[in-house]
Amino acid sequence: MKQDVTPAKVLKGTLNLPADKSISHRSAMFAALYEGISTISNFSTAADPHSTLDCMRKLGVSIREQEDNTIEIKGVGREGLQASAKELDCGNSGTTMRLLSGIIGGSGVSARLIGDESLSARTMKRIIDPLTKMGITIEARDGDYAPLEIHRNGPIKPLHFPLPIASAQLKSCVLLAGLFGDGETEVIETLPSRDHTERLLNLNIEERDENKIIRSSREAVIPEQSYRIPNDFSAAAFWMVAAAIHPDSEINLPKVGLNPSRTGALDILKSMGATVTITNESSEGAEPVGDLSISSSKLEPIHITEEVVPNCIDEIPILAVAMVFADGVSRISGAGELRHKETDRLTAMADVLGKAGADFTEYEDGLQIKGDPDFVPKASLYSSFDDHRIAMSAAVLSMMAEDKSQVLDAGCTAISYPAFWEDLGTLTN
Ligand code: S3P
Repeated sequence: MKQDVTPAKVLKGTLNLPADKSISHRSAMFAALYEGISTISNFSTAADPHSTLDCMRKLGVSIREQEDNTIEIKGVGREGLQASAKELDCGNSGTTMRLLSGIIGGSGVSARLIGDESLSARTMKRIIDPLTKMGITIEARDGDYAPLEIHRNGPIKPLHFPLPIASAQLKSCVLLAGLFGDGETEVIETLPSRDHTERLLNLNIEERDENKIIRSSREAVIPEQSYRIPNDFSAAAFWMVAAAIHPDSEINLPKVGLNPSRTGALDILKSMGATVTITNESSEGAEPVGDLSISSSKLEPIHITEEVVPNCIDEIPILAVAMVFADGVSRISGAGELRHKETDRLTAMADVLGKAGADFTEYEDGLQIKGDPDFVPKASLYSSFDDHRIAMSAAVLSMMAEDKSQVLDAGCTAISYPAFWEDLGTLTN
């Protein structure tokens, strides 16, 4: 699907964003491991969390979906998962493949995990190495890529694991396998990444010498997962930037997840001078939420460094768009992980910025962008690289252009935000 984007004269409205993707995945997996029924409301309508639901069903978990996006999951407990004769298709979802590998390997059921072309090209070695040390056998293409064949013969060996990469998927994978071990698996985190797994499972956490030690074992009681999932901060970020860079805007985003391990982009935009207000702060289950309101802003340049990258990892493409309109030179460094996402997001953003006519340099670990508050992007034909976050970043940039632009393979927004193009229409009408 090729999507037209016309320059927006005004950008005003209130949007009910999709539910948080990371929490949706986890709620379904953890509810399956709970011994009893969980009722989860506001489950994401996006494709990725539905890949997780499909996989859980194939593992013998009964899931009832209602029209209002409430789902009821009959948990089978740690011992109740069943081996699937069918392949588990993780689609485009790295979170599904990496977290489920920990659960499947830990539980001892055998399974074959597959993914689409993008997921099959993403490295799995980072999870294969620690899971192998825990006694799980994973056969992978070239020892690194999906399809993954997962088996286990002996017991789970608890692991002491200093995280070699600041990745919540890797952290969660090891902790989930650790839930099946007699003895404590410890993950040591130096740079904080999203902490939904430890919050929703109420895992034991110790703060020591500025590091966080998270522990899991068979002793950890898996809590019921009945709550309302907050709206997705990562989806909010596109509209926060859109509102900040547009001269006539005010966008309201109710009930957005405000977990501090996710809101790096909020802090960055505020430091850049964005006009953001947060009201009605409360919590949904273990997660903080609030209403966001953002309007036209004068943006200053900023340097995003390695320590904060994990807290804004998915927002870096759209933050690059904000930098294009800041008054000076901004820099993103220590962001090499972006090369291992649904596509190489540094190369992809360099392509988008280049087509728009922005002044930038691409580095191995980031980008430098010379911004200009009066910049007008060229009307262009943007490639989305079939990556939802690139498509949405190109769309926000296009709303500031001199004329109509187009985004190719625009349907990929359904991976995290199925109503993105409709919402864009709502704001501009
Ligand atoms: C996710 C973690 C991040 C993020 C992804 C979702 C999660 O990946 O990019 O979209 O839900 O744990 P990494 O942990 O690999 O950085």
